[in-house]
Amino acid sequence: MAKASSDQPKPAYKLWGGRFEKATGEQLEAFSRSIQFDYRFALADIRGTKAYVRALQRARILTRDEMTRAAQALDSLADEVAGSGPKFFEGAPEEDVHSFVLGKLRERIGSLADKLHTGRSRNEQVAVDFRMWLKDDAIIPAQKALRELMAALVAAAERNMSVVLPGYTHMRRAQPVLWAHYLLAYFEMFRRDYERLERCFEAADVMPLGSGALAGSGLRPERPMDREAVAKELGFSRVSRNSMDAVSERDFALEFLFAASLCFLHMSRLAEDWIIYSSEEFAFLEMGDEVSTGSSLMPQKKNPDALELIRGKTGRVLGHLMALATTVKGLPLTYNRDLQEDKEPVFDAAEQLIPALKLATQVVSSVSVNADAMKNAASDGWLCATDLAEFLAAKGMAFHEAHQIVGKLVLESLRAGRQPQDCTLNDLKHYSPLFDKNALPLLTPEAGVARRTVKGGTSPASVREALKEAHRWLNAI
Ligand code: ARG
Repeated sequence: MAKASSDQPKPAYKLWGGRFEKATGEQLEAFSRSIQFDYRFALADIRGTKAYVRALQRARILTRDEMTRAAQALDSLADEVAGSGPKFFEGAPEEDVHSFVLGKLRERIGSLADKLHTGRSRNEQVAVDFRMWLKDDAIIPAQKALRELMAALVAAAERNMSVVLPGYTHMRRAQPVLWAHYLLAYFEMFRRDYERLERCFEAADVMPLGSGALAGSGLRPERPMDREAVAKELGFSRVSRNSMDAVSERDFALEFLFAASLCFLHMSRLAEDWIIYSSEEFAFLEMGDEVSTGSSLMPQKKNPDALELIRGKTGRVLGHLMALATTVKGLPLTYNRDLQEDKEPVFDAAEQLIPALKLATQVVSSVSVNADAMKNAASDGWLCATDLAEFLAAKGMAFHEAHQIVGKLVLESLRAGRQPQDCTLNDLKHYSPLFDKNALPLLTPEAGVARRTVKGGTSPASVREALKEAHRWLNAI
């Protein structure tokens, strides 16, 4: 005889099935499940359902009493979900989070739960859940982490305002710059990332409920759903304008993946710079022990694994962008189950991005600079050549001629093993009589830096202005 029913696994709450004579095959059942990752939507799904329940009451599908009972059950389920981790969903028989939530409600309010999906489709439900989750659990925390990183860059700049290092092009010493100016270059990249996420938020901030499966809700045609009211309740600033678009577009997810990819690209460039700058060959800087690792064999090693992982994960997140773009490419309107593949790339991108930003912040806060090594590198190798050529041009010589003359000076100095600091006025005059004593200070990296007083340039005054502006911006966001 069969054992008592309490020992039997609970049957899954299924949102469809009447049209079928046989059960879903096990293969498809397993292959199509999404609860193991879309459980992240549970709280959003509950919020969305609660707003929908109110809409159903306004449409007189639910009585006030039914609405209250359903809302209370949804609230208590939300508390339970909020107080438990992913384990809560482990082994759930339901195929997805939407069925799971209704299944849990059925345990609490019985057959009233069966009424809550009236006129609603999972196609609009998944779209609304995804948008809410993206805004609250991905974009806002990523922006917060970005702000911390930017504040750390500003603090690092202010710790070492007079430090000069070579700026590079083609990975060759080009012109001296302030370390603070260099750091603010990354500040600008991350500022754009922040603003890009702002636009991403706007793209996600569109409420799709009322779209039905694709054609729009037909419930109570004489009194159509007040979608603006639902949007307001769920914290959306707009409603979608076309039901077919609303259930099938994933631009907001793609935009987030692009924003996350670009932010990773920026972190990856910083990582690459600092891996090089902290090498024994450069010895410009050293990262804190808390963000460095050792070798299991070589006792002397201090490795930049934190930055290498950030650089490494950049490829993974770019891959997610490609994956979703490829999923959406060529999909016929409207919803297709392919779209279930939209979530994992975005979850993983967010779950990599936010910790990476926090780790990068720690790296930036921990860095100590070797000002002498930087200055020596900036003094060695004629980084002042442009300034000498510009000096001659300012005296009336055509720049091309000045370029030629200083090029010759550099060539012969390199052959003679002469550095800028070894150069006398006579040495300079040998190349052009236009050189005078005012040219001599140009031979130091500090002079090269000080001349660049243009807005956005590397002079101390320009950089102080840039830092002021950075503070203003950070305080305003
Ligand atoms: N798990 C599905 C997804 O992520 C939910 C929507 C299901 N809709 C459907 N028509 N089968 O896309």
